[in-house]
Amino acid sequence: MALLYILHSLLKLAFLCSFWPTVIPLSLNYPAVFNFGDSNSDTGGLVAGKAFPMTQFNGETYFHEPSGRFCDGRLIIDFLMEAMELPYMNPYLESVGSPSFQTGCNFATGGSTILPANAASTNPFSFNLQLSQFFRFKNRALTLLSKDKELQNYLPAEDDFNKALYMFDIGQNDLDGVFYFPASDEQVVAFISKLMSELNYGMKRLYDAGARNFWVHNTGPLGCLPRIIATFGKKPSNLDEHGCVASHNRAATVFNKKLHDMCLQFLAHSPEANITYVDIYSIKLNLISNYSLYGFQQPLAACCGYGGPPLNFDTRIACGVTKDLNGSIVTANPCNNTAEYINWDGTHYTEAANGFVADEILTGNYSDSPHLRNSPFLT
Ligand SMILES: *[C@@H]1O[C@H](CO)[C@@H](O)[C@H](O)[C@H]1NC(C)=O
Ligand SMILES: *[C@@H]1O[C@H](CO)[C@@H](O)[C@H](O)[C@H]1NC(C)=O
Ligand SMILES: *[C@@H]1O[C@H](CO)[C@@H](O)[C@H](O)[C@H]1NC(C)=O
Ligand SMILES: *[C@@H]1O[C@H](CO)[C@@H](O)[C@H](O)[C@H]1NC(C)=O
Ligand SMILES: *[C@@H]1O[C@H](CO)[C@@H](O)[C@H](O)[C@H]1NC(C)=O
Repeated sequence: MALLYILHSLLKLAFLCSFWPTVIPLSLNYPAVFNFGDSNSDTGGLVAGKAFPMTQFNGETYFHEPSGRFCDGRLIIDFLMEAMELPYMNPYLESVGSPSFQTGCNFATGGSTILPANAASTNPFSFNLQLSQFFRFKNRALTLLSKDKELQNYLPAEDDFNKALYMFDIGQNDLDGVFYFPASDEQVVAFISKLMSELNYGMKRLYDAGARNFWVHNTGPLGCLPRIIATFGKKPSNLDEHGCVASHNRAATVFNKKLHDMCLQFLAHSPEANITYVDIYSIKLNLISNYSLYGFQQPLAACCGYGGPPLNFDTRIACGVTKDLNGSIVTANPCNNTAEYINWDGTHYTEAANGFVADEILTGNYSDSPHLRNSPFLT
C-alpha cells in the first residue's frame, strides 16, 4: 500500500507539472471514427457478439428500447459523435439490419480488457482482437470498394482511414480485475506498465498502417463506482474524502500518469501523429465531488439497483434482475429520475452524467494535445 501511495503522490506532482492543457475549443472534423474500448463506449458490440441478454431498462431514457449500451441513454461517445455531426457508431459485430460503416466502426465491447482475453474473460474481444477486427475491416472494405464503387455509401473511402480519428477508452476492466487477486503495489505498478506496452504496440500498428489522429481517454475514478464501494469499501478506512475506495482511485491515477507518459513516447516515435489525451478522471471526480453544483442529487448511488441508500447496490442483483433473496422476491428497478443520478447500474454512468462529461471534454479544458505545443497557433 505504502509504495503505491508514495508513487501516487509523486506522480500527482509530476502529473500536474507535465500536464499542460492546451485549452483550445476542440474542433472535431473527421470523415470517420474508429473506436476501441470496453462498455464505456460499447454501442452494441457485446450484445451483437455474444447475444448478451440486456435488461429492458437500458436505453429507457433516450432510445426507448435496449440499444446495446450499458446506460439508460447515450454514452460519452454518442455525444462526441453528435458534436462531430456524424451518426452514432455501428458495432463491428452487428450483422443484422443494414448498418452503414461509411463514417466508421466501433470495436468496443463490454467487459473487454487491454490484455489478451483468457478463459476467465467476459468476452474474447480484448484489445488485440479488436485490432485484428479493424485490420480485417479495412482490408475487406478496400477489397469491396475496388470491386464496387457504390459501396462507398456504406464503407469508408480509402483516404478516410488516414484522415479518421482513432479513439481509445480501455483499461478499466484490467484495473478492476487486478484487485480480486492478492497483489503487491509493485505488482500492480508492473501490471500497469504491461498494459501500457500492449496499448502502445497496438497504436503503433495503426500508425504504421496510416492512422494519424489519435484520441485517448484516460480511465475514470474506478473507486467511485457503487459496485467497487459495495465490494471493497465496507471498512470506512478504505474510503477517501469523496467516499470512494482509495486503493482503486490511486491505481487509476497511476494508470493515467503512465498513460500520459505513453502518449508522449508514442508521439516522440511517431512524428506524423496527432494525439489528444483526455482527462476523463478529473471530469468524473469533479462531477462526483461537486454533484449538487451540476444539478445532480446522488453522487454515489446506483439509479438501477437494489438495497436503498447509500449505494442502492447489491452485488447479487444486477439492474433489471429479479431474484429470490432469502425468501422474498426482489427486483433491481431503475429510479424514477435518472437525471438526478450520476451512476446508472453500479458500474456505468447515466446518460445525464455522460452528457456532462462530453460537454466538459468539448470545452478543451481537460485535453492535452502535445503535438500542438510548439504550434505557431498557440500563444
Ligand atoms: C494534426 O494536427 C494539425 C493541427 O491541428 C493539423 O494541421 C494536421 O493536419 C493534423 N495532421 C493530420 C495528419 O491530420
Ligand atoms: C469541486 O469544485 C471546486 C470549486 O470549483 C474545485 O476547487 C474542486 O477542485 C472541485 N473538486 C474536484 C474533485 O475537482
Ligand atoms: C437470510 O435470513 C437469515 C434468517 O433471517 C439470516 O440469518 C441470513 O443472514 C439471511 N441471509 C441473507 C443473505 O440475507
Ligand atoms: C417511482 O414512482 C412511483 C409512482 O410515483 C412510486 O410508486 C415508486 O415507489 C417510485 N420508485 C422509486 C424507486 O422511487
Ligand atoms: C475552462 O476552465 C477555466 C478555469 O476553470 C474556466 O474559467 C473556463 O470557463 C473553462 N472554459 C470552458 C470553455 O468551460
